[in-house]
Amino acid sequence: MCGIVAYLGPRQAYPLLISGLQRLEYRGYDSAGVALYDEEKINIYKKAGKVQDLVNYAESKNTNACVGIGHTRWATHGEPNDTNAHPHVSSSGNLSIIHNGIIENFSALKKSLIERGHTFQTDTDTEVLIQLVEHLQEHNNVDLEEAVRIALNEVHGAYAIVILSKNHPDRLIAARKSSPLVIGIGDNEFFLASDATPIVEHTKNVVYLNDEEIAVVTNKGELTIKTIQDKITTPYVHELELQLEMLEKGGYDHFMLKEIFEQPRSIEDSMRGRLKAPGRKVGLGGIVDFEQKLLNADRIIIVACGTSWHAGLVGEYLFEDLARIPVEVEYASEFRYRNPIITEKDVVIAISQSGETADTLAAIKLAKSKGATVLGICNVVGSSIARETDAGSYTHAGPEIGVASTKAFTAQVTVMTLMAMAIAHKKGTLKESRFEQILNELEQIPDKVSKALEADEQINYISGIFKDASNFLYLGRGYNFPVALEGALKLKEISYIHAEGYPAAEMKHGPIALIDEEMPVVVLATNRSSYDKILSNVQEVKARKGRIIAIVSKGDQEISKIAEFTIEVPETEEALTPLISVIPLQLLSYHIAVMRGCNVDQPRNLAKSVTVE
Ligand code: G6P
Repeated sequence: MCGIVAYLGPRQAYPLLISGLQRLEYRGYDSAGVALYDEEKINIYKKAGKVQDLVNYAESKNTNACVGIGHTRWATHGEPNDTNAHPHVSSSGNLSIIHNGIIENFSALKKSLIERGHTFQTDTDTEVLIQLVEHLQEHNNVDLEEAVRIALNEVHGAYAIVILSKNHPDRLIAARKSSPLVIGIGDNEFFLASDATPIVEHTKNVVYLNDEEIAVVTNKGELTIKTIQDKITTPYVHELELQLEMLEKGGYDHFMLKEIFEQPRSIEDSMRGRLKAPGRKVGLGGIVDFEQKLLNADRIIIVACGTSWHAGLVGEYLFEDLARIPVEVEYASEFRYRNPIITEKDVVIAISQSGETADTLAAIKLAKSKGATVLGICNVVGSSIARETDAGSYTHAGPEIGVASTKAFTAQVTVMTLMAMAIAHKKGTLKESRFEQILNELEQIPDKVSKALEADEQINYISGIFKDASNFLYLGRGYNFPVALEGALKLKEISYIHAEGYPAAEMKHGPIALIDEEMPVVVLATNRSSYDKILSNVQEVKARKGRIIAIVSKGDQEISKIAEFTIEVPETEEALTPLISVIPLQLLSYHIAVMRGCNVDQPRNLAKSVTVE
């Protein structure tokens, strides 16, 4: 969703803002803009469309500046046009602002400002905030920082903001609540951004603002942070582990393809140091103090959205099958609004790649307020969810730039497998022989994923045959049912083909009506325990002339005789099948989307980090 980047220092701000905005493109957006201070003027350039449209527009304009703010907007209030694009300005034009998040009481604030004679140029909640700041500055006769502080005490909702003032171009004022803001500290220069990706090429030293903190950075290299209650806080400087090359395509055509092919390594990284050879134990350092809570839990509730929710469904199978703990998997957005029953004996696990998903964050806060222990499984280090949970395990998949999640999914499933194994071992719910077998298999998963990726060329060929289909059905059973859902989601997200995932047996209760000679049906048949059942389902599809693309284990004899296309992947232990069977589905959606000319890494209307409800 929206992205923020700002610069203050001795260098030219504009090129830094543009390269920063390009780094943030992956978040999903529909307009972009910058505000630049030069010769006692703030020049604002903004455009609907891509950052490149902004660059073209600003080509002949004055872009000289040593301080500036830039933004990519994902429309919430008001359509995505030039006017509603950020930055927004106050009535006098003295103040400009960029904002991520939503000011929920903007309409009441706007009404009161209109009654006091203010007029508005845009439909946005952000303009209300900057007008409010200026109003308070004039009305209360206070300096800008104090006006920002008072204003932030009046707003409800979420914000990450940066304000540039014509009268104080030597400084930038930033603040956050429920929407991340990172401050990069360079040599007498500062970089502010909604995540670390635009910062890492300039400095590794960063401060993550906390909720309700206001930061002031100056061109003398000063950084001060206060809370909105006016208490000074001491900034904690973190060192970024992110490497620049992690943010590049590394020779691949798209980030998504690179991330699909990174999975042997990212799964290995998710396991690194967590499988302990002597005594063959599994250990997750981040949650070690909470293991007892998991062992005694009446129930685990997994909350997540999107692909992370699908990983949560795999988690349900894992925790129930291996550790014998009842699990419920909830869409975070539904969970928080349905007055759920949560007790102190529940352990809630929140799963999120970005660690910033607003609904997941809100679900965590709700669960904590009811006394549950809340653990996190996040990819982005230092993210809001990682900080809000009682403890957690990072997935260590590295930055995921493609909007459609791939390596984050397999990393989340890997971490949950380790969690379930650790608990199962302690509880004694797994026979030693199966425990050993799963561990041995787990160690081989990176190699097996590499082998599964070898089907890329064949999948590219199959994609060419089905690229013009209007619908797809994905069927799976047991551990492969969530994978069917994930395969369908991938296709929808990036190729805009309608697709549905179903438990294979449930097909008879509805989707079978859709099957005709046009309908591609992707069948996941890699799990041994339900092989015969899925074979029957395949026959049912075949009898209705559906076009079957089967994902089978290497050496399959039966289904490959019936299916029109068979994609072989290495066989593995049942509980680990999702880690392998999801690979061909990711590749299928990727190739189909490319062939349809879709913007694979930045699909329309989608955002990587959904920071609004
Ligand atoms: C968005 C993304 C999805 C992602 C979901 C949850 O919708 O486009 O790819 O699965 O958010 O995001 P999270 O960061 O919480 O895993």
